[in-house]
Amino acid sequence: MAKLWGGRFQKETDRLVDDFHSSISFDRRLYRYDITGSMAHARMLARAGIIRQQEAEAIINGLQELLEDIEAGRVEFSVAAEDIHMNVEQLLIERIGEVAKKLHTARSRNDQVALDVRMYLRDEIDAVLELLAGLVAALLDLAEKHVHTVMPGYTHLQRAQPVTLAHHLLAYCQMFERDMDRLRDCRRRVNVCPLGAGALAGTTFPLDREFVARELGFDGIAENSLDAVSDRDFAVEFAAAASLIMVHLSRFCEEIILWSSTEFGFIELDDAYSTGSSMMPQKKNPDVAELVRGKSGRVFGDLTALLVMLKGLPLAYNKDMQEDKEALFDAVDTVKKCLLVFRPMVATMRVRADNMARAARGGFTNATDLADYLVRRGVPFREAHAAVGRAVAYCLERGKCLEDLTLEEMRRFSPAAGEDVYQAIGIDRCVAARAVPGGPAPEAVRRAIAAARQRLAAAAPAHAGRSGDK
Ligand code: ARG
Repeated sequence: MAKLWGGRFQKETDRLVDDFHSSISFDRRLYRYDITGSMAHARMLARAGIIRQQEAEAIINGLQELLEDIEAGRVEFSVAAEDIHMNVEQLLIERIGEVAKKLHTARSRNDQVALDVRMYLRDEIDAVLELLAGLVAALLDLAEKHVHTVMPGYTHLQRAQPVTLAHHLLAYCQMFERDMDRLRDCRRRVNVCPLGAGALAGTTFPLDREFVARELGFDGIAENSLDAVSDRDFAVEFAAAASLIMVHLSRFCEEIILWSSTEFGFIELDDAYSTGSSMMPQKKNPDVAELVRGKSGRVFGDLTALLVMLKGLPLAYNKDMQEDKEALFDAVDTVKKCLLVFRPMVATMRVRADNMARAARGGFTNATDLADYLVRRGVPFREAHAAVGRAVAYCLERGKCLEDLTLEEMRRFSPAAGEDVYQAIGIDRCVAARAVPGGPAPEAVRRAIAAARQRLAAAAPAHAGRSGDK
């Protein structure tokens, strides 16, 4: 097949080269954006008097039919035509003839590919935002049911102080809300129209770039033509935001894996979200959580690939940049798949509140509360800390909890202890007393849930709808 750029060439490209540099196998997923972008370009060319109105109409109608045929699976792309941009152009020429050859006036694949990727990513960011919002909503629903479900909070994976499952879940809500914030912020820089930058230096034709930008739902135009065709910061930003989403999912998965072990016994995963062993009949494995944890590595790899691909590139476009797509697509696909399966896995898990409470009672999670109690009775904190430390050592030797000590035993460690000490170190009391904003007390947690729901509702319209390209 003759190349669209073949004019100055005397030989065919080697078949190895065709295979090597062709990107159609993966950039075909951009077809809808490529075609929508071309339609807006053609419309603008006619408005600016660069092509005739009937020519634009023929091109737009041809593109529309091509789009429908691709969508219906009636179109075969060609490796020899290299990429989605030249495939679309070639197919259009085959279908509507000579007039199609005017479409690429005042345009380069360099500004075209930047356009397509930005339109694609804008939609995908909206899709990921929706998945995140759904996940946060599900976590809030679960949290609401567990405002009183006491569990140990950990540092160094050692039991530290009592919290509630609701409070623990809300910590993840915070992470996912920050992820949403990052995506919205990234979207602002994605949503800038590069078309009109040409190959690198703009074009000699009187383009109406603002018109194209408006037609395609962009907030504005890229201001410098060299930057417009060589900027992939937005892809890096997305991959970084996606990496953090994966970090958060992965940490959560690690806990789900620990919690579902017999040793913890805090939760049981639903059968629909666990798998068995081919050899050991008793096994029920948290494979889904493990796989999400494992897939985080892919996304960090995608981020690294993008950074390394860009770091040595001189301005402006370089073919290295074709490598942006597979990394970006993989990050998008992976993060979406993981979010999709993670939500129902968490929503359906059975919470073993009894085991959580038992664990919270053992392990001296109320030791700080005992020290705080003594402080309220006038003992300096450092002394109270030492006294409780000695009491813990005494209990450990006898296999007791702090609340098992008699008052007489208590007073051996600190004479400041009174009858009311038992009330102060009861586990529910320890949680309820942490009523500081951001703390695990049921009242504070209820307020936090309500505030999160409000933020979610307020944010919804910002990323739902809007897009000139659907
Ligand atoms: N397939 C190319 C890419 O993905 C499109 C841009 C090609 N431009 C060029 N001058 N070779 O980057």
